[in-house]
Amino acid sequence: MTRPDDSAAPVCPMRRTPLHDRTFADDPDGVYESLRAEGPLADVELAPGVPATLVLDYDTALSVLRDPARFPKDSRVWQRTVPQDSPVVAMMMYRDNVLFQDGPEHDRLREAITDALGRVDSFTLRRYVRESAESLIRDFAPKGEADLLNDYARILPLLVLTKLFGSPPEITSRMVDAITALWDGVDTERANLELGSCVAEVVALRREHPAADVTTWLLEHEAGLDDEEMIQQLVVLMGAGAEPMQNLVANALRLWLSDERFAGNLSGGRLPVEDAIDEVLWQQPPLANYAITFPPQEVELAGRVLPAHQPVVIGIAAANNDPALCSARRDGNRAHLAWSAGAHTCPARGTARMIASVAMETVLDTLPDMDLAVPVERLEWRTGPFHRALTALPVHFPPVPVSDRDEEATGGSDSWSTLPARTQWTRQGVTSTRRRRSSADVDRLPGWNSLVEWLRGR
Ligand code: HEM
Repeated sequence: MTRPDDSAAPVCPMRRTPLHDRTFADDPDGVYESLRAEGPLADVELAPGVPATLVLDYDTALSVLRDPARFPKDSRVWQRTVPQDSPVVAMMMYRDNVLFQDGPEHDRLREAITDALGRVDSFTLRRYVRESAESLIRDFAPKGEADLLNDYARILPLLVLTKLFGSPPEITSRMVDAITALWDGVDTERANLELGSCVAEVVALRREHPAADVTTWLLEHEAGLDDEEMIQQLVVLMGAGAEPMQNLVANALRLWLSDERFAGNLSGGRLPVEDAIDEVLWQQPPLANYAITFPPQEVELAGRVLPAHQPVVIGIAAANNDPALCSARRDGNRAHLAWSAGAHTCPARGTARMIASVAMETVLDTLPDMDLAVPVERLEWRTGPFHRALTALPVHFPPVPVSDRDEEATGGSDSWSTLPARTQWTRQGVTSTRRRRSSADVDRLPGWNSLVEWLRGR
């Protein structure tokens, strides 16, 4: 294996622009603009002491994404060069999963994932999103106020993904409970163990009792995934899916509620929900800087020589807003890089779009007179180099009694009650008496801590 290239000329740390500070979180476009004045590549810092090259222009980004031989995903050599407690290690350290593979192994895992996701029926997915959305709205509709990020967008993708995985309600309740505890930093060791148990239980359950779900389809796939690999696939699907999903839903709701082009209710609004989603994918993509690669040797790019093993990060938001692309965007096409491009382009684009649009439609339809509870400029963005993520999205609306909504919205169906109300599962203790994995077991689960860190929003 090649060693880190110690001979690469060091760049003065003072010249690196931090992507992890409040300045970047408050005004990423301003930072991109000043970096762009220096050229298509910028020397940035992902965390204190973690240098990287940020690609700012669209064509250069595509050339990197389409060249896996010079820009592969394996981060193992790099990760020996950074402090293990750095906040970016969890997102970037090598895992034995699809995101970090190249070549035939990547093809094998990716084919299993795309085939399994491809079997998801759109009517079923729509129903899952609607039911999950309603179960969350049911909890805050009578209160007249909510935080659409923490009470809705954050939990909804988890509910939908666990349904897609064929997790029974009992395991889902425990999983969401554990993830909520991890987010809130409450009893994290126990929550971590519980989450590990839950994923392993879903795999064991579906191996024994196949059903029409993603877990079963992965198990049945000709790739022949063993139990460890199965857990990895579910972990990466959940880790790669939950956080960007929450940010797409929250950022698009923020846009909808603050921009007069979208103002009004669903029937009276001027532009459809799909347009708000497209605009966010172009302008505030949930993964703002990502699709990271690790060149194994010095590599020439856009007139510069980049050092071996130093991360090359695609400035997805910067490339999307490359001034050269203005006319393409006006044409309303979807050539943005929010899903990345090339071999690792998101395999769940259709799934993610549908989750986002049904999530938005359901809450806007159910609570049509909703308004932001604070001026849009006062909404705060989370710091961190990768995600474009709000810290909260407070709204208010005329309270809606649950019993009335039940009658009106569901025509008397029991879809509001398909899952326990959220207050129930977040405040319940973990009561299952099933066998739990030991902490040693869970620590050995590949990718496990990575998922936990993703879910904790790192
Ligand atoms: C708004 C939502 C989403 C966005 C913006 C998004 C974006 C992305 C991006 C930019 C990548 C490329 C990452 C890289 O090259 O390092 C990616 C890969 C991936 N995404 Fe998504 N994603 C979203 C939702 C989802 C969902 C819901 C799932 C699962 C159901 C998912 C599963 C994956 C997987 C498994 C990969 C790795 C593919 C590979 O390495 O070949 N994503 N996604």
